[in-house]
Amino acid sequence: MSKPVILTGLRANNDLHIGNYFGALLPIIDMAQRRNKEYQINLFIPDLHSFTAEVDHNTLQEAIMQNLRVYVAAGLPLNDPDVHIYRQSYIAAHSELTWILDCFTGMGEMKRMTQFKDKAKKDDDRVSVGLFNYPVLMAADILLYGADYVPVGDDQTQHLEFTRDIAERLNKKFGNLFKVPKAVQEQHKFFGKDQGLRIKDLADPTKKMSKSDETGKGVIFLIDTPEASRQKIMTATTDSLQSIKPDPVNQPGITNLLDILALLALVSSDYQINPRPLNGYAELKTAVADTVAIFLNDFQSKLKEVDDNGIFNKLEISEKLMNEQADSTLLKVQKAVGLRP
Ligand code: ADP
Ligand code: TRP
Repeated sequence: MSKPVILTGLRANNDLHIGNYFGALLPIIDMAQRRNKEYQINLFIPDLHSFTAEVDHNTLQEAIMQNLRVYVAAGLPLNDPDVHIYRQSYIAAHSELTWILDCFTGMGEMKRMTQFKDKAKKDDDRVSVGLFNYPVLMAADILLYGADYVPVGDDQTQHLEFTRDIAERLNKKFGNLFKVPKAVQEQHKFFGKDQGLRIKDLADPTKKMSKSDETGKGVIFLIDTPEASRQKIMTATTDSLQSIKPDPVNQPGITNLLDILALLALVSSDYQINPRPLNGYAELKTAVADTVAIFLNDFQSKLKEVDDNGIFNKLEISEKLMNEQADSTLLKVQKAVGLRP
């Protein structure tokens, strides 16, 4: 019997940051390292998603490669036969299933998606149909492989719920076509603390840290120099309450810094956090900056050692196999809707 699937994707539209790392990448890599005997792990590049927002098309190939290197530097074991990396656009079934699912999706459902509403508000003129229906493509990404678990940050929860809805809708109409991914609560239980995480922007801690942020001033990118990240942390927005305790409502900045510190302490016992009580915001910021610097140095030296040939070899093997898995789901759907005898 085939193994249950854990699957996630990270868009290659800009450099990855510590929010992506802790929200999506680390939970799946942790599974790939610790529970690879029990699960199939799919970590893919949703390259067709890349230009739902504006990107530099000339550098997209390099951005895709860079993300793959990040996966490996973060510890993805490429030699494991049940761990797969692939590019969405190399598996045509993603686009085909999207079209079919589109025809069973309501306009209203898509209009209600918070992420669409947020992004559409910012940029009325350039909102594409692709941005509008991209949750449907995301549902296809998940359903083609019958994924049970999908580690994502909390901004993607609504899309995950839509995936369950559309799967159940088609199952009801056509019989058992899709495996329905686990409910969000179950996903949280499975992944523990990291799932549903939201690291905030350092400059504006009321919004999430995001690659799409124009200034990047509040974002710690995985390729930031430790000095650059230190500067962003030392100038992070806080408050005037002079109290160091988690309080997301009244002290979002301080809470965010404490969250980052706690997350880095979890990654490895090498990241020694200053055990004495932190006196004042400057000391807290220094502790965060020191810890982040150790993390970035360590991560970037691993990144430099990644061998591109290993990635190309693995892509070839995974993409062949994933085409087979995806095609078999697609054929079931094509038969159900009357496109195949
Ligand atoms: P961004 O908003 O930075 O462009 P993406 O939308 O490409 O990020 O998200 C890639 C993955 O990283 C998703 O699973 C998303 O939920 C997660 N993620 C993004 N930002 C954060 C954050 N600030 N905190 C936690 N997880 C995040
Ligand atoms: N929509 C996700 C994001 O913007 C990326 C993504 C695309 C994804 N397809 C997916 C994540 C399938 C998990 C599963 O971050």
